[in-house]
Amino acid sequence: MIDKNSPLPIYYQIQEWIRKKMDDGEWEPGDMLPSERIFAEQFNISRMTVRQAITELVNEGLLRREKGKGTFVAEKKLEQPLQGLTSFTEDMKARGFQPGNKLYEFRVTPPSRDVADALNMKKTDSVYELERVRLADNKPMALEMTSIHAGVVTNLSKDIAQSSLYNYIEQTLGLTIGHASQTLESALAGEKEAELLQIEAGDPILWISRKTHLQDGTPFEYVRSAYRGDRYKFSIHLPRST
Ligand code: GLP
Repeated sequence: MIDKNSPLPIYYQIQEWIRKKMDDGEWEPGDMLPSERIFAEQFNISRMTVRQAITELVNEGLLRREKGKGTFVAEKKLEQPLQGLTSFTEDMKARGFQPGNKLYEFRVTPPSRDVADALNMKKTDSVYELERVRLADNKPMALEMTSIHAGVVTNLSKDIAQSSLYNYIEQTLGLTIGHASQTLESALAGEKEAELLQIEAGDPILWISRKTHLQDGTPFEYVRSAYRGDRYKFSIHLPRST
């Protein structure tokens, strides 16, 4: 399978061999790869060459290394459209995943200056502050720090925070969610994000900040979400305006 006389570098041939195993479905997400030693013996090449081939596939996101365990075929990334004001629960259900939440923080406080500015609040108003890890089939996908205007979205409870906020706002409170604005920024996971998202500190994440309004224009939520870089890719349709 490896042709040492080929003009193609050996590490590249190894990569193509691994890619083919994945394309053919012989190696599936979650499967562990043979160790570098076994690879090197099987192909009669140096471990350095094997490592180079694997490192590039890890950097591409096709494989992932787990400290002290080995190298695994990575889960496929979810494609998340950036158009459309949807909730996490809706997004996961639409893909056939079971949405879940781990609620780490739930409190009612006066707004910080940033939140007060974003949500047009007075210092004497109250916000619900939630910290949730959003799960798909029990696997962590994103960490969300949400501030909700307590005068607009009333009677929020821990139970509600552990399911869908948008469902509560629309179905229970009968409010109409209108529009939102978002910003996206790439970053590296710090210790806290790494622990909650079950990734390594220094792994790539994407911060998405959303400010959401009711249909009448009232801003009601300000959210900062850290999405796992290895589980998401984002898509958008760009019509050319004339
Ligand atoms: C997405 C958005 C958040 C929003 C959330 C609501 O994750 N990034 O800004 O708060 O959906 O989701 P749910 O209704 O499932 O609580």
